[in-house]
Amino acid sequence: MNVKEFSRRWARAACALALAVAAGCGEGGREAAGKANPTFLQLAKDRYSVRYYAKTPVEQEKIDAILEAARVAPTAKNLQPFQIFVLKSEEALAKINKLSRCAYNAPVVFLVCYDKAKAWVSPFDAGDNSGVMDSTIVGTHMMLEAAELGLGSCWVKFFDPKEVAAAFDIPANLVPSFLLDVGYPQKGTAPNKMHFERREVKDFATYK
Ligand SMILES: Cc1cc2nc3c(=O)[nH]c(=O)nc-3n(C[C@H](O)[C@H](O)[C@H](O)COP(=O)(O)O)c2cc1C
Repeated sequence: MNVKEFSRRWARAACALALAVAAGCGEGGREAAGKANPTFLQLAKDRYSVRYYAKTPVEQEKIDAILEAARVAPTAKNLQPFQIFVLKSEEALAKINKLSRCAYNAPVVFLVCYDKAKAWVSPFDAGDNSGVMDSTIVGTHMMLEAAELGLGSCWVKFFDPKEVAAAFDIPANLVPSFLLDVGYPQKGTAPNKMHFERREVKDFATYK
């Protein structure tokens, strides 16, 4: 093997190793990535509700990734009855901040709705539909994707769905389920007291 061939092979091997580490593959891959690649449980524990946002706009690629996380969420019978309105224009943000004191001037607010005509209807629970469950799973995917992207978020239920539907011309079949405020946390933002108030597993899990 001449010197040129040797260095070509070495470069190929180094490249493969770098890709494996970046993907978190193999023993030590995750450790090598350290905090930049937390386990799911660590990401879930580190996430907290952000109520103070920096003015920094959220990059379109990050909004796209959050919507992609929504797209792959499971829904009853895979009916995918959700519709998401991305509120980011000055006009839309002014409106939502007027309608809910919990929009917290975030640079992006996702208004997540479900279509009550499209959601799966249970034959057991007096016609109860899966819209709330489906949209909640969608929102959870979005919230945790935002956390992974280094963004803060806050789940918001403090608004009148009728007022919000009217303000944004939401069709009658869509039910506004919740808002998800998203943006970069203001410097110095930290979890509030409630974030740390968690019950013990033994207090809610029962083995039968
Ligand atoms: C269904 C739901 C509704 C919520 N509504 C609001 C809200 O309207 N305003 C708000 O500031 N936080 C709201 N939150 C955030 C909770 O207060 C918060 O998740 C909880 O106190 C735990 O704190 P943490 O998210 O920092 O861990 C809501 C959370 C959920 C899951």
